[in-house]
Amino acid sequence: MKNSIVLIGFMGSGKTTFGKILSERHHYQFMDTDDLIMKKENMPITEIFKTKGEDYFRQLETDVLKELTHKNDKMILSTGGGMILKQENVALMKSIGTVVYLKASPHTLANRLKNDTTRPLLKGKNKFLFIKDLLAKRKDYYEKGADVIIKTDEKNIQDILKEIEGYL
Ligand code: S3P
Repeated sequence: MKNSIVLIGFMGSGKTTFGKILSERHHYQFMDTDDLIMKKENMPITEIFKTKGEDYFRQLETDVLKELTHKNDKMILSTGGGMILKQENVALMKSIGTVVYLKASPHTLANRLKNDTTRPLLKGKNKFLFIKDLLAKRKDYYEKGADVIIKTDEKNIQDILKEIEGYL
């Protein structure tokens, strides 16, 4: 039987990239909570943060997760990096599928995000220091919320894909 996978992890951990590749390869539906929120609000995430605030965005995250729990199709779901902050969200994600944490170091994440302009939380910050601090605050949430932890530093893409595939 097919199993749905919910990918969690910090911004830049590869949730969307790996999720898209795997869903095409295995004919799963690909879903991304940020995309669903942007469609719902008809504006980019940066704009939602700017005009409506982070709390409003966090409520939308829970709303879209709730909607996804009603879907019967097996899916690979990429979630926003802050999705694990609410216990309610963790329970919803676990009801959707196996929760896989793509773990990466601040160094790796800062490198992947160095040219990013789409993440409001990173705007105007020293990326490495900001990521290091925020990751330290969120580390336990990711690790406790996960069913499986996959370390991605210094691994090639194919090896990471293979590890995730073990849970499909
Ligand atoms: C956020 C991560 C982003 C997006 C928003 C907030 C966070 O998603 O949901 O900018 O709090 O870590 P990605 O992890 O897909 O970048």
